[in-house]
Amino acid sequence: MNILLTGGLGYIGSHVAVVLTEAGHRVTILDNLCNCKVEVLSHLAKILGSSPIFIQGDVRDQVLLESVLKDGKIEAVMHFAGLKAVGESVQKPLMYYNNNVGGAISLLKAMKICQVKTFVFSSSATVYGVPKYLPIDEEHPTCPESPYGQTKLHIESILRDLANSDDAWNIIALRYFNPVGAHESGLIGEEPNDIPNNLVPYISHVATGKFDKLKIFGNDYKTLDGTGVRDYIHVMDLAEGHVAALNYLNKKLPKFSIINLGTGAGYSVLELVNLYEKVSSRKITYEISGRRAGDIASCFANVDKAAFLMGWRARRSLHEMLEDSWRWVSQNMTIEL
Ligand SMILES: NC(=O)c1ccc[n+]([C@@H]2O[C@H](COP(=O)([O-])OP(=O)(O)OC[C@H]3O[C@@H](n4cnc5c(N)ncnc54)[C@H](O)[C@@H]3O)[C@@H](O)[C@H]2O)c1
Repeated sequence: MNILLTGGLGYIGSHVAVVLTEAGHRVTILDNLCNCKVEVLSHLAKILGSSPIFIQGDVRDQVLLESVLKDGKIEAVMHFAGLKAVGESVQKPLMYYNNNVGGAISLLKAMKICQVKTFVFSSSATVYGVPKYLPIDEEHPTCPESPYGQTKLHIESILRDLANSDDAWNIIALRYFNPVGAHESGLIGEEPNDIPNNLVPYISHVATGKFDKLKIFGNDYKTLDGTGVRDYIHVMDLAEGHVAALNYLNKKLPKFSIINLGTGAGYSVLELVNLYEKVSSRKITYEISGRRAGDIASCFANVDKAAFLMGWRARRSLHEMLEDSWRWVSQNMTIEL
């Protein structure tokens, strides 16, 4: 199939580009480069033998999108383009609503005009808010705690309404838990522009020497070792989940589905730190500080729906996630010795 990946030069989109191309699809990437480097394209070419088609542009440019959809004979769209920093979204909510919700609307309008009605959306487990029970299934109530999370939930509502309005739409919103790791080549991976918001990129940079130490917020939670527990998923498993989603959409059964992508297992911050020390053979210095407001003890997914509907389950271990993360970081960053 001819597939458009918006935000396809970013962390998750670039891994999905690899898996889709290897599965025989023709990938076109549209990205405005606001949170990625154009060099990712040449790294994709090294992995794949040739580069995906790339268009530099903004997802809010409906006229451009219409021509991309028509010229590329696009049959399905995977929508990764979006801003994703929770803290920044609290400071700049309008920027987040404009980019994320505004971007989704102009993309969907262009798709409707061009009669492209197969759509996979990058949603997030953040829409659930504080867990009321574990593991979190797709029926769990939603209560996002940040403007970022709200943008994801708004877009899901738009998608549900759209699917209800016209049977020709086939839509899946994938609620990602915590993607980590990198492609096994070490050529693509997560490269935050600023100080990383997520745990694994931060630990990686303590390992490289870029940061002195990791701050662990709270070690008095009701978990095995007192530190917070989360569901980490290898980005290549996540990428394979998108191929499974596409295959499921092609059966034209559902009009709109919401599906968790996680492993169903939780790991604590200290477990990650200890394992990262092993895979990198470097000391991860950390200090324990007080709990952060809004943080929760544990969060992990119920992944039965993905297995039941799409025949997909994550298969890579935490060890592989951290090993691949370290390979990517150590091959691509300057390491302080
Ligand atoms: N990484 C995570 O932990 C995580 C978790 C849950 C959900 N998500 C969602 O998955 C998607 C991809 O996340 P990621 O980690 O790859 O982020 P990323 O920032 O690495 O990738 C997003 C890409 O979209 C591009 N982009 C942003 N706004 C754009 C616009 N208006 N027009 C065109 N391109 C634009 C950026 O340049 C970037 O390359 C996002 O929507 C994010 O909210 C990510």
